[in-house]
Amino acid sequence: MHPDKAKWDRIYSERKPTDPQPAEVLLQNRHLLPKQGIALDLACGLGANSLLLAEQGLEVHARDISSVAIERLDRLAKQRQRQIHTKVLDVKSQPLQPNSFDVLVVTHFLVREMADELKAGLKPGGLLFYQTYCRDKVFAQGPSNPDYLLKDNELLQLFAGLKVRVYREESLLGDHNQGWRNQAMLVAEKPNEV
Ligand SMILES: C[S@@+](CC[C@H](N)C(=O)[O-])C[C@H]1O[C@@H](n2cnc3c(N)ncnc32)[C@H](O)[C@@H]1O
Repeated sequence: MHPDKAKWDRIYSERKPTDPQPAEVLLQNRHLLPKQGIALDLACGLGANSLLLAEQGLEVHARDISSVAIERLDRLAKQRQRQIHTKVLDVKSQPLQPNSFDVLVVTHFLVREMADELKAGLKPGGLLFYQTYCRDKVFAQGPSNPDYLLKDNELLQLFAGLKVRVYREESLLGDHNQGWRNQAMLVAEKPNEV
């Protein structure tokens, strides 16, 4: 068994079933989503982002290596009468088909080697919503391994070539008790000509 699958299955099995919350990058920028199209929630976990995308009217595909997480998402989607096409999958093992998605959502999952594949997987005009933890942290939330933490402005570098529509990364500036800290968010659009 893939070690990440064993790890995440254990984490989700031990976690009490709670109502998962969508990521801020979607909550704050929901108005930028198209009203129809095909969306992929990559490494979806319990699928709060997927449910929001389905409520928006999108055809949603959700992939995660953890069968425990996917089973919970399937149950929740059924309860809420939403259709989500779920798949238990090591997303590193199966590249995305190019030009396939109108919306790609990746939150709290950082695999730098996949950046070009994600860009290619977007249809021209498609939108990437990305949010994850940064190295410059104000409080001890999120992973401690720097491999899983963004460097300064790293999302902008990884997704260069896309048109930046929203970028937020407050780092250690100003009053640490205010603002949106510890993470960076990017909403970016694939140009038509790429
Ligand atoms: C921190 S959780 C984030 C879940 C969700 N995106 C969110 O923001 O709540 C990281 C997720 O990545 C998944 N994951 C880790 N490695 C993976 C891989 N190789 N392929 C697919 N999913 C993976 C885990 O199962 C876990 O659900």
